[in-house]
Amino acid sequence: MRNLLSLNDLTAEEFRQIIDSAIWTKKNPYHWSETLIGKQIGLFFEKPSTRTRISFEAAVNKLGGRAIVLKKDEIQISRGEPLKDTAIVLGRYLDGLVARTNSHSTLEVFAEYSNIPIINALSDKFHPCQAIADFMTIKENNKDYETIKICYLGDGNNNVCHSLLNACSMTKTNIFVCSPEKYGPDKTIVENARSKGANIKITTDPEEAADKADVFYTDVWVSMGQENEREQRLTDLKNYQLNDNLLKRGNNDCIVLHCLPAKKGEEITENVMYSKNSKIFDQAENRLHTQKSLLHFFYYQT
Ligand code: CP
Ligand code: NVA
Repeated sequence: MRNLLSLNDLTAEEFRQIIDSAIWTKKNPYHWSETLIGKQIGLFFEKPSTRTRISFEAAVNKLGGRAIVLKKDEIQISRGEPLKDTAIVLGRYLDGLVARTNSHSTLEVFAEYSNIPIINALSDKFHPCQAIADFMTIKENNKDYETIKICYLGDGNNNVCHSLLNACSMTKTNIFVCSPEKYGPDKTIVENARSKGANIKITTDPEEAADKADVFYTDVWVSMGQENEREQRLTDLKNYQLNDNLLKRGNNDCIVLHCLPAKKGEEITENVMYSKNSKIFDQAENRLHTQKSLLHFFYYQT
């Protein structure tokens, strides 16, 4: 039985295969309609979600299964029922659980006790499904994973950046992570990604990170659950905005990515977000194709 708590649960070959199949299913949207027939997939959310929840719900439905949305405050966890008991019970009803949790350790409890596949729909540590869609978008824009330079700008210590680093390790990609020192990525995740082949440069200099970049990526400065740090973060990260001046330093055909939701005027400007280089809304669309591909991989191919 497979889980996807982080991209480390996939081999590099599987990661590429899921992306290639996602590109295929985008062109062949009516295939695979029987993959999940008879399967009940729970979608458990402790935090808000537009893209992840709706793309998973649509993907399960398109593959012939049933999605059951479980909001935390509507089930007994919110009244103190232990996670372990909830995990055991959900495992008796469902064939899989997609879960967005405050703490990554909640996913680990589900994985340990539910006996069904658990897919991370975002935790405080990782956002693996996002990175699969990100790398699909890079590939469909004809960028070669091994030769491009990615410039990730802003909060390097968040779930999105960490999964991006894991993805770079799968594809041996060069990435510059550019953040103020105290917002640098988790050192263990960096070392692990480096040991598997990612070429990671950590810098505090946005111009160095942007020079000749092929892919620009940013994410919000205040992630879900960090709202009480908002004022401090806005001050600390103000020089790390993705704007026209930085974009100009990239290659002519560079692309701009953002996982969304965005805070325009903070981590990205309106101009950049809607520029000709922006593939942000294709990237959001690709969440659907990659969720289909991932579920097909989990329930059909393995
Ligand atoms: N990018 C992303 O995960 O968006 P949602 O929070 O809307 O799911
Ligand atoms: N880093 C962001 C990603 C949202 C998709 C957050 O955790 O809020």
